[in-house]
Amino acid sequence: MNKLNIVILAAGKGTRMFSSKPKVLHEVAGHPILRHVIDCAKALKPAKIIVVVGFGGDSVKNTFNGENIIWAEQKEQLGTGHAVQQAESYLEDGATTLILLGDVPLISADACEKLLAKAQNQLAILSFNKEDPTGYGRIIRDAKNSVTAIIEHKDATEAQRKINEINTGIMAMPAKALKHWLAGLSNNNAQKEYYLTDIVALAVQDKIGVTAEIADDEWSITGINSKLDLAQIERVYQQRYAEMLLKRGVTLADPARIDVRGTLQTAQDVEIDVGCVFEGDVSLGENVKIGAYCVIKNATIAANTVINPFSHIVEAIVGENNRVGPFARLRPGTALQSGVHIGNFVELKNAQVDADTSINHLSYIGDSTVGKRVNIGAGTITCNYDGANKHRTVIENDVFIGSDTQLIAPVTIGKGATIGAGSTISKAAPAGELTISRAKQVTIKGWKRPTKEKKV
Ligand code: UD1
Ligand code: MG
Repeated sequence: MNKLNIVILAAGKGTRMFSSKPKVLHEVAGHPILRHVIDCAKALKPAKIIVVVGFGGDSVKNTFNGENIIWAEQKEQLGTGHAVQQAESYLEDGATTLILLGDVPLISADACEKLLAKAQNQLAILSFNKEDPTGYGRIIRDAKNSVTAIIEHKDATEAQRKINEINTGIMAMPAKALKHWLAGLSNNNAQKEYYLTDIVALAVQDKIGVTAEIADDEWSITGINSKLDLAQIERVYQQRYAEMLLKRGVTLADPARIDVRGTLQTAQDVEIDVGCVFEGDVSLGENVKIGAYCVIKNATIAANTVINPFSHIVEAIVGENNRVGPFARLRPGTALQSGVHIGNFVELKNAQVDADTSINHLSYIGDSTVGKRVNIGAGTITCNYDGANKHRTVIENDVFIGSDTQLIAPVTIGKGATIGAGSTISKAAPAGELTISRAKQVTIKGWKRPTKEKKV
C-alpha cells in the first residue's frame, strides 16, 4: 500500500452545541471528540496527520500540544472542499489521502483500512443507508450501479432526495488526483460553498474509478452536532465498553450503569456494582470487588481487595486483601500494602500505609508513613499543614493511636507506642510507652447547672 496522509476536518464552529468551546473539544468518554478521531488516525500508522482547524483553532491546537500533528488553518469556513484545500500543500504525490471528520468519534480503524484498500488507485467513499437521509449528501448511482456523483441535500431534486444512501463524509483517494480535483472545485451551488463532494463528478470525468463502501455500523459514522448527539454517542461508547468488559469475564451488576473514561484493565473474577466511574488508567486485580457508586481515577487495586460503596480513589495504589470504604477517600500519593482496612469517612493523602494496619473511622492521615499492624482510632487527625508548609508524620510498627488524637507534624510515634485517646501530640512519642496529653479528669462536687433568669 502507498504511504498514507490523513486529513481531519475540524474547522466547523458547531453552532448547535450552543457553546463557546469548539465542537471537537467537547468530550466523549472523558476525552475530546477529536482525540478519538486522532487516535483512530494514529492506529493507521500514517506518514502525516493534518488537522484543519478554524473556529477556536488555538485551543484545539493547545489540547494536542506536542503530538506529531500538522495544523492547517481555514480562516473562513467556505466548505469541506475549501477545508481540504488548506491541507493540500502537505499532501505527498505518491501517497493515499484519507479524509476523516473531526466530529465523528466512533470511526473505526477497521472501516478506514477497508476503504484504504480500495483507494489505492481510485476514489473510495464510505457511504451508509440511512432510514432518514434528510440533510446529507446523496450517493448517485447509474444503471450499472456505478457511483457518478454526490448531490448535497440542498441541491438535490425531489427524486434524488428519495435516495437513502448517504455520504458519510469519510473518503480516500490518491493524493495526486485529489490535488488535481481540488483545483476544479467551484462554489456554484445552493450553499455557495466549495463542496469536497464535487470531486466525485470530477473523478468520473477523468475516468478514474469511484466506489462507495457501505458502512455497517451507523454509530461509527455518526457526527456530533448537538448536545443530544453527544449524549447519545456517549451512551453508545459506554455500552460498547461494558460489553467488552463482560466478554472479558468481568461481572457488571448493570452494563448500562458503568462509565469508563479511559482504560480499565481487569484480571479474573472482578465484580463491579452499579454507578461506578473509572477515569484515566485503572487496573483491578483478581477477585476485586467494587461497590456501588465509586469513582476511581488513575489507580491500581490489587487482588482480593474490596472497595465498598461511595469511595473516591485518585492516583493511589491499593494493595491485596484490603478493605476500603464505604465513604473512603484516597487521594494522590496514597499507597496501601496488603491487609489494610480503611473505613468510613477516612481521608488519606500522600500516605504510605504498611501491611495489616487499620484506620477505620473518621480520620485524616496526610503526608504520613504508617507502619505494620498499626491501629488508628476514630477521629485521628495528622496536622500536616502549619499554614505555610507541609510536614510528615511517622507512625512506626505496632502503634495504637487512641481516638480523637491530633498528631502535629513533623512528629514520630515510636514502635509499639500507645497514644491515649484525646491527645494532642506535638513531640516524639517514645517506642513501647503510653503517651497521653489530655488533662486529668476531675469532678467538681456540688456543681449546679445554670438556670434561666426570670425576665423583668
Ligand atoms: C458534509 C458532506 C455531506 C455529508 C455530510 C456528512 C460536503 C459538501 N457535504 O455535509 O455530503 O453527507 O458531510 O456529515 O462535504 N468543515 C470544515 N470546514 C468547512 C466546512 C466543514 O472544516 O468549511 C468540517 C466540519 O467541521 C465537519 C465536517 O467538515 O467536521 C463536515 O461539515 P458539516 O458542515 O458538518 O457537513 P456538511 O457540509 O453539512
Ligand atoms: Mg456544512
